[in-house]
This record gives sequence, C-alpha cells and structure tokens, in this order.
Amino acid sequence: MYKFLIRPLFFLFDPEKIHHFTFSLIRFSCKIPGMKLLFKSVYLVDDKSLERHFFGLHFKNPVGLAAGFDKNAVLYNELANFGFGFIEIGTVTPIGQAGNPKKRLFRLKDDKGIINRMGFNNKGLETAITQLKKNKGQLIIGGNIGKNTDSKPEDYTNDYLECFNGLHPYVDYFVLNVSCPNVGSHAKLNDKDYLLELISEVQKANVTFATQKSILLKIAPDLNNNQLDEIIDLVKETNLDGVIASNTSTDRTGLKTSQERLTEIGNGGLSGQPIKEKSTRVIKYLSDNSNKAFPIIGVGGIHSAKDALEKIEAGADLVQLYTGFIYEGPKLIKQINKALIKKANQ
Ligand code: FNR
Repeated sequence: MYKFLIRPLFFLFDPEKIHHFTFSLIRFSCKIPGMKLLFKSVYLVDDKSLERHFFGLHFKNPVGLAAGFDKNAVLYNELANFGFGFIEIGTVTPIGQAGNPKKRLFRLKDDKGIINRMGFNNKGLETAITQLKKNKGQLIIGGNIGKNTDSKPEDYTNDYLECFNGLHPYVDYFVLNVSCPNVGSHAKLNDKDYLLELISEVQKANVTFATQKSILLKIAPDLNNNQLDEIIDLVKETNLDGVIASNTSTDRTGLKTSQERLTEIGNGGLSGQPIKEKSTRVIKYLSDNSNKAFPIIGVGGIHSAKDALEKIEAGADLVQLYTGFIYEGPKLIKQINKALIKKANQ
C-alpha cells in the first residue's frame, strides 16, 4: 500500500512539507483507539534471534531509525510501533536554530536518493529534554549531538558538552556528530587532534554521572583510507564505544539525475541508494583494519533486506535507515528483521 498508494501521493508535494504532514498523520493515527495495536501487529517482529547486546544495552532488534528524522524527539514514542529496535533523536544543538534557508530538501527519484542541506534545524536542547521526559520506555533512544552553526571554533567543545550533560539522564547512548556536510566548519571537526580533545572532554563529563553512557562517533562516507586509519587509531586511543558509518555524502558521481538538476539543487548531503556502496566500503574497511575492535552501526542506502544483510556482512553490528524508510515505507523494517531471523535459522 505504501509504495503504490501513499508514496506516489506524498511525492507530489514538497518533501519538507510532507515530512511535517507525516509527523501529524502518525501522531494523529496513534491517538485513534486500537491503531497502535494495529501498527504493532502489522510491523513488530519479536524473536530471540534478533536480540543484540551492545553499549551495555539490550536491543530487541538491530534495526534503528537514523538521526535527522525525529530531530526534536517529538515522535519516537509513536515510531516505536513500527518495529524499530532503536531510534536516534537529533542532531540536537544547545540553542534552537532555524537551519539553512528553504528549499533545502530534494528527492532524487531516479536514484532513490535525497539531497539535504537542512543545517541542523532543531528546537534546541531544552525542547529535546522536555520531549524526552515523555519517554514511555518502549525503545532504546540514542542522542545525536552537535554544535550550533554560529558557534565560534573555541566554543565547539562547550556546545557538545552542554548537550551531553543535558541529555545524559534521558538517552541511552550518545553520538558525536562531526560529519554533517551542511553546517560548515568541517576542517576542525575532521582534525584528529581536535577530535581527541573533544572525545576526552566528553568522556570526562561522562564519569561525573553515576552511570556512564556509551559514546559513538558518526563519520562521513567520503573519508579515504588514511582518514579511516586515523579514525581507527582515534577510537583505540580514546576507548570510544563505537562508530556510526555513515552520514551523508558530498560526492555526486554516478547519479542518474541530470547534471542540470543537480546544479539547480546545489550543495547538500546525499543519502539513500547512491551512497550504499560507499558506506558499506567504510564499514568493511573499519571492521577489517581494526580486527573488529569496536562496534559499528551501519547506515547509508539500506532500501531492502539484502542491503541490510550486506552491511552486516561488511562488519556492521546494528543498522539504521532514513532514506529507505521514506522510499520503501515502514514495511522495510519488518522485511529486514524477517530476513535476519531466516539467516539465524539457516
Ligand atoms: C540526515 N542525516 C542526519 N544525520 C545526523 O547525524 N544528524 C542529522 O541531523 C541528520 N539529518 C538528516 C536529515 C535528512 C533529511 C537526511 C536525509 C539525513 C543523515 C542520516 O542520519 C543518515 O546517516 C544518512 O541519511 C544515510 O542513511 P540513509 O538515509 O541512506 O538511510
């Protein structure tokens, strides 16, 4: 029904407007008596073989919703009915910000991709905390954190620390997002010395709490092997808990979408099918060259159960999706989980 009825209808409208409309629709339908149960009966898959233990957490299944969909933590309770094993909220910044001027979200239908330059539009830390206080505890929640676009380089670390300290009681794991191509200041966030400093400061903050939360780093799919070697060293040196590979890409090679259309769209991060191979390559490189020294969450271009299995085969311990959820609908989560059960029973 999604692919043949809902998607063609939704794709007639502006992507960002449809994003907000979908939120209202999901929230409204979950308020109708019996609907949550109906969604659960259609989408939830419960099986012992799907369970995973990472970051000191127990995941009911390894399929998560990637950051950027529920930026302000307003829909995670409802989204829990669609079969995810975990949901990552954010990216949250200390102060709410509008993000880049519209239009900033584009579908690449022929490529099954999206280009976005949202620029960390979010309502800020306080709103996220207020929303997370409403957590019904159905799912593992990751907190993806970043810095405000206007922050000066000397304040970057403070921005991350503010979000880390503020969200600590309310999320189960953390992600330091240092790989968004849409917020500038990439140079500093790609510098190994700066990352060492940032991670060490966040880790120092972590031990001031009674219980510690796992901290992961989210990286770009465009890193070369030398940069990936640096990431491996960084994770080992700091004892970081894991890596999310990957964020969106700035590379436009091999797209079916015309050059003219791409020029019209302009800058932004590419996601979906066109980045599938790139992110799988990063996962495989990290896994092979670190001897699987740390857990990896694999994300980028998962649009089918086969795509998810490829990520796991490459070394991912858990997977996430965003663009695949838009193109394939919620059935995709169930399809992946069913395929994982089948594989476990082979
Ligand atoms: C994203 N992504 C993202 N990632 C992140 O860490 N913080 C964010 O705020 C966002 N925002 C965001 C907005 C939009 C519109 C998209 C499409 C993506 C990146 C996302 O979490 C994921 O890493 C990539 O999109 C690759 O996965 P998919 O989309 O190919 O499954």
